[in-house]
Amino acid sequence: MTAPIYRKLADMRALNAGWRRAGETIAVVPTMGALHAGHLSLVQAAKAACDRVVVWIFVNPKQFNNPDDLRTYPRTEHDDAVKLAPYGVDAIYVPDVDQVYPDGFSTTVSVSGLTDVLCGASRPGHFDGVATVVSKIFLQTGADQAFFGEKDFQQLQVVRRLVRDLDIPITVTACPTVREVSGLAMSSRNLRLSEQGLVNAAKLYPILQDIAVELAQDTRFAPLAERARLRLAEAGFGQIDYLDLRAEDDLGALDHPSRAARLFAAAHLEGVRLIDNIPVPAV
Ligand code: PAJ
Repeated sequence: MTAPIYRKLADMRALNAGWRRAGETIAVVPTMGALHAGHLSLVQAAKAACDRVVVWIFVNPKQFNNPDDLRTYPRTEHDDAVKLAPYGVDAIYVPDVDQVYPDGFSTTVSVSGLTDVLCGASRPGHFDGVATVVSKIFLQTGADQAFFGEKDFQQLQVVRRLVRDLDIPITVTACPTVREVSGLAMSSRNLRLSEQGLVNAAKLYPILQDIAVELAQDTRFAPLAERARLRLAEAGFGQIDYLDLRAEDDLGALDHPSRAARLFAAAHLEGVRLIDNIPVPAV
């Protein structure tokens, strides 16, 4: 049986109040829909951690800096509900736009520093949109725990900082990136790639892995990045927004993984912007 779908904040609040009275814990899994196994891994983790699970589905206009990307973002509500059915979630919250952004909405939540780099540099305003909607997700659902994917590692760190800075009483749990058999990180945007595009897109992950292997042998990042950029171009990638080695905690740039680090990439293929990241142990 599919879980009930709610569209109004008042309904969400009533549900929350009932669960609270019964002493139950509540998890939220924030998503923009077009659900795949990556999202479902978060749902599974949420289900294991809390009595009640709310899946939030809202294509948040404030985090899209490109109108075409917003227009073509997949919207598959019925399929999403069907995919969630086996997981026994308690509510699918698909708020109407005016429930999130009522007329005259004029507040922006902005996390500085962490958002200047990587996707923050190539997508101006994106993380303000994320921080604002995530604040609303936490306040509207009143959840105890929230589940985010490492696929969007910078987003995860921004959300952690937001929660810490604003004393939001919620625990943020990170879940590892789920990949296709090919190694391609699952993403709702993969739906826009051709068959050949999917084959080419899968080359990003091994290129990152090769860099990580060489970094472990004490090679500096700069020359490795140069070679990797050539390989990405050969694989059919166009513009590369970034290919960076950065510290996990503050996302500071590194040329050597002197502390726990990650390789981050964002590159365009067939007009689709793909991102990925992998951990690099400190050496
Ligand atoms: P969306 O891109 O739909 O992703 C929702 C959640 O699923 C995020 O926490 C993301 O990191 C996680 N996710 C996506 N692909 C994944 C994969 N392959 N493996 C593991 N987790 C994966 O991220 C957003 O939506 C929005 O910015 C949101 C937080 C909902 C705010 O609008």
